[in-house]
Amino acid sequence: MSYKIISIVLLICCTQQIFSENDAIRAVKEFKAKSDPNVYDKDINPKLGQNSSVNVGITLYVISSKINPIDKSVTTNMYFRQKWSDPRLQHSYPSVKVVGSQSFIDRVWIPDTFLPNADSITTVSIPTPTSFAMIESNGTVFISHKFQVTSRCLLENTSLVCPIEIESYGYSMKDVDFEWAKGDQSAGITTDIETIGGYKFSGKTIDKKVEKLSSGNYARLIFTMKFERDTI
Ligand SMILES: *[C@@H]1O[C@H](CO)[C@@H](O)[C@H](O)[C@H]1NC(C)=O
Ligand SMILES: *[C@@H]1O[C@H](CO)[C@@H](O)[C@H](O)[C@H]1NC(C)=O
Ligand SMILES: *[C@@H]1O[C@H](CO)[C@@H](O)[C@H](O)[C@H]1NC(C)=O
Repeated sequence: MSYKIISIVLLICCTQQIFSENDAIRAVKEFKAKSDPNVYDKDINPKLGQNSSVNVGITLYVISSKINPIDKSVTTNMYFRQKWSDPRLQHSYPSVKVVGSQSFIDRVWIPDTFLPNADSITTVSIPTPTSFAMIESNGTVFISHKFQVTSRCLLENTSLVCPIEIESYGYSMKDVDFEWAKGDQSAGITTDIETIGGYKFSGKTIDKKVEKLSSGNYARLIFTMKFERDTI
């Protein structure tokens, strides 16, 4: 046998080993096949026409928060996570969670979540967008974003009360309902909150309200941080 043939045999064997399929790869391929634009329409929400709404579960974690007492605003860095079920994306590998970045999020239906009382939201896209998606075999989709949000606070006596509201931009509760995914544990906060101007973090609450508008009822989640004036 010539060296040429041996090296071709080696190349085939080793390439196959490197690229041999395993469940993790098969699950990604199945996800990509099922979310292919030719078979999956990401403009159709998973419950469309079923007389029930998509339940979107929210959790968030505040990494840092900075009060500006002059214009009564707060700038908050957070991880923001959303979870719902899309049975169209079920895959056959129960032990595998398919994980990908923005390109995976772009393939699937996502809720049109917005923060109505935010003055500005900044995301980081360098070196890469700070977002990821995870799809479980039963079709549970989980997406996470990291961003910075600046929102208004209200002065109540000596406290600044700073709500951040979460709502669907276009879907009423007929189509999309929001809920705090982990009850009281749904909104976490770092212990070393940076505050300036003599305010210190004094507590947080979560709440859910229904906004009744002429176009329908909209679910609104509210995360509130409270800052008290430091009395030294
Ligand atoms: C839709 O659901 C509501 C309550 O969940 C029920 O009252 C109504 O009859 C349902 N409509 C149809 C067409 O199934
Ligand atoms: C999917 O599986 C996860 C656990 O892996 C579970 O928390 C979730 O409730 C399941 N969702 C449905 C729709 O069965
Ligand atoms: C503000 O002060 C008033 C009067 O002392 C009191 O009734 C009210 O509960 C206070 N509000 C808060 C948010 O502490």
